[in-house]
Amino acid sequence: MNVILGVGGGIAAYKAAELARLLGEQGARVQVVMTRAAREFVKPLTFAALTGRKVITDLFPRHESDGALDSAIEHISVAQENDALVVAPATADLLAKFAAGIADDFLTTLYLAFTGPVVLAPAMNSNMWRHPATQANLERLRARGHTIVGPDEGELACGMTGPGRLAEPARIAGAVMSVSAPRRDLEGETVLVTAGPTEEPIDPVRFLSNRSSGKMGYALARRALDRGARVILVSGPVHVPPPEGAELVRVCTAAEMREAVMERLEEATVIIKAAAVADYHVPVVPEQKMKKTMTRLSLELEPTPDILAEVGRKKGDRLLIGFAAETENLVAEARRKLRSKNCDMVVANLVGPGGAGFGSDENEVTLVLRTGETIQVPKASKLEIADAILDQVLPLRLALHAAQ
Ligand code: PMT
Repeated sequence: MNVILGVGGGIAAYKAAELARLLGEQGARVQVVMTRAAREFVKPLTFAALTGRKVITDLFPRHESDGALDSAIEHISVAQENDALVVAPATADLLAKFAAGIADDFLTTLYLAFTGPVVLAPAMNSNMWRHPATQANLERLRARGHTIVGPDEGELACGMTGPGRLAEPARIAGAVMSVSAPRRDLEGETVLVTAGPTEEPIDPVRFLSNRSSGKMGYALARRALDRGARVILVSGPVHVPPPEGAELVRVCTAAEMREAVMERLEEATVIIKAAAVADYHVPVVPEQKMKKTMTRLSLELEPTPDILAEVGRKKGDRLLIGFAAETENLVAEARRKLRSKNCDMVVANLVGPGGAGFGSDENEVTLVLRTGETIQVPKASKLEIADAILDQVLPLRLALHAAQ
């Protein structure tokens, strides 16, 4: 396997040397490309010694003797010869250039010419990481299917404590290995994923909803597509771009989500219910906006349809994976839901203060399986969590068949 390691200009550039070593150890042939800023932090010689190959630093390298250009299209041949591109550290500047398609040095030009899987490991100051510009760039890069690993939280070189540390090189290497040998283990499956929140109207301008961003469900859809499945994505109102290739059905309320799921149930072989469906709605929505009065207001709410329970009753030999968003008794609650809704697996995530589930780019889950087994998946990007969930599809199907 051939891997391009792009090194950006940040203090964490020295850790990219360890990444180059780890990738080599796993049998990858590593071609290092360094930006001008990266060379301020680490010398190319370090990487050349570790990989046994010349490090690429310039778009227009010149022969020292005569000033003539080397091949000016090396970025194309490097793009064609390699199976994966990993950039570590991916600085805020590189993320912005990749997102906008700016190609003003070897690495950014190579990025545009490269058609294989891309892994980005950001590292920067916490404020730069949190800046809306950086977050918007990340959204665009995620929507292209790139894998974002980290950053981790901790003490940073600038003296701040917060998100921005480069993820551990071993974790980045793991992500590279998994994207460069893409599994097509879900070929032949039709995966129906529900994602995002629902919105339950109170009157023509107000609604009840929750903090789900849709990121977890969209990551599942993305990875299921990558692994060869056909994907039907039933989504509540969200702002994340849909993964290309998914059949997107947009809904608003729990009742609409139920209808969409039931309509497509026949086609599905795997159903994953990552949506945060409202449990209650206002049964009779007034046609006019409710007037403000200075007295107390009570809303009468009715339960919404429990889609997971209904699918559980009708699923036949389809695989059903539910989610459980809990603030306490995580595994016990997940087990209760697994049994009462006839799921094959429940993905339990802690939400609320200290929990990772809602809105964030990362999650930390416990997989509670019908077989009685529980699997702990430590904090990782939602794409990595999605892979860990999808890894259970085939074993669960085997267990289901064996029990019949
Ligand atoms: O969207 P993100 O910001 O990425 O956040 C991800 C997430 C936290 C929303 C996701 O990981 C998650 O936990 N989704 C389920 C949230 C939820 O509604 O949990 P619950 O424990 O209330 O519901 C249990 C299960 O029943 C879920 O699979 C839910 O989809 C389903 N359900 C709930 C109510 C209802 N009326 N019908 C349902 O089908």
